[in-house]
Amino acid sequence: MSVRTLRLPSPTHPRRALGAAAATAAVALAAVTLLPTGQAGAAGTTLRSLAEANGLYFGTAISQGDLNNAPLTAVAGSQFGMLTPTNEMKWDTIEPSRGSFSYGPADRLVSFAQTHSMRVRGHTLVWHSQLPSWVNSLPGSQVKTAMENHINNEVTHYKGKLYAWDVVNEPFNEDGSFRTDAFYNAMGSGYVADALRTARAADPTAKLYLNDYNIEGLNAKSDAMYNLVKSLKGQGVPLDGVGFQAHFILGQIPSSFKANLQRFTALGVNVAITELDDRMPLPPSADKLARQAGDYASVVNTCLTVSGCVGLTQWGVGDPDSWIPGTFPGYGAATLYDANYQPKPAYTASANALGGGTTSPTPTPTPTPTPPGASCQVSGKVSPWNTGLTEDITITNTGSTALNGWALTYTLPAGQTVTNSWNASLTPATGRVTATNLSYNATLAPGAATSFGFQATHTGDTAFPTSFSLNGTACTTS
Ligand code: XIL
Repeated sequence: MSVRTLRLPSPTHPRRALGAAAATAAVALAAVTLLPTGQAGAAGTTLRSLAEANGLYFGTAISQGDLNNAPLTAVAGSQFGMLTPTNEMKWDTIEPSRGSFSYGPADRLVSFAQTHSMRVRGHTLVWHSQLPSWVNSLPGSQVKTAMENHINNEVTHYKGKLYAWDVVNEPFNEDGSFRTDAFYNAMGSGYVADALRTARAADPTAKLYLNDYNIEGLNAKSDAMYNLVKSLKGQGVPLDGVGFQAHFILGQIPSSFKANLQRFTALGVNVAITELDDRMPLPPSADKLARQAGDYASVVNTCLTVSGCVGLTQWGVGDPDSWIPGTFPGYGAATLYDANYQPKPAYTASANALGGGTTSPTPTPTPTPTPPGASCQVSGKVSPWNTGLTEDITITNTGSTALNGWALTYTLPAGQTVTNSWNASLTPATGRVTATNLSYNATLAPGAATSFGFQATHTGDTAFPTSFSLNGTACTTS
């Protein structure tokens, strides 16, 4: 398959992470205009640690060539807790000719993961693409043996070392029919169960997944995956989860994403977002990046709110190593990191969705003068586009007592309607809105700040809300 040329980043100083000050910055989307520069990542403020604090993982895909890219590896090794080899565990690399196995490239990636205490998702054992021609040329009667031998050899090689395997990748056409690839043609749909059983026998500890794209929303293809999972579970076939690739287009996260994930978890499997990116028409602009931040926040929040969603993996580390421009001409800027491996607004929004705005960074509270009578201060930023906006609001407890549970009430300008939110639950969607804490950010110590955000539609008035009060006490606004 294609080998992508890596466009090397231009700056000389890699930045590994948002520093504590940036992660607790007043607004998630301030990064649109105020990208912090040069801070080293502070413990507790990486995507990885924020995800882990929520019981999730945040992963990335890396290829062998990426290991020579210092800015990329610095970000990957500090910000992500799960690694998927981009191409190196695929059939054409592992077994390019029958019975001849080549593990060097994938081993190097597993070794990088181990050095950085990252877990590994194996990708992928059985797939119609990046499949060497010898498999497609086999007589049908030999495909089952070849498939089982391939799975057995590869899974055994990594036995005990991987968190999960994408056992079968992309089994369905868009209309929900099975792809008529070498495996289906030889064995019918039963190849899926056979592949799962073979993988389980070779490594009983790795989680076993089916993985596909365009199954994020409710549609014919996700119906087909749902029916397959239901049937496999009913037959007692070993299957732990379903991977949703989540190659999204800006502004097109399906509204049924959460409901769809939930119908899968109701079948007794986990779900994972396995290849997340959010492409936009090039070039990027502040407006598009702000909308992308809203998309990423909504995806992270969907996983957070679906019990049984175990984690998210971004496909690539930054825009320079993303597969998007090479595969979807005219599109790009799909990841959390820009051309220079600097975090984008989507990074900040993702970190904030994971609670990254909820820390008290310094032992001595910032000596902000407290206006008489006020126990709270509110700041924030609106990032609008023609019909919508994202908004992040930070509340600082300027009083002297800790709050155990908080409710911030404010008035939305006329015409604004909340469509989704992160780090707080909001009701109602218009008018006088109350944002209530979630369980993990209920406590607000004196001097501490917490952030939440929301996405809304508007009819022209994109002003910041007014008349804030926290637990019934009026707040100052800055
Ligand atoms: C892509 C890689 O990113 C590219 O480098 C390669 O040329 C083609 O494959 N769905 C998948 C991934 O499951 O394996 C694909 O990865 C992207 C789509």
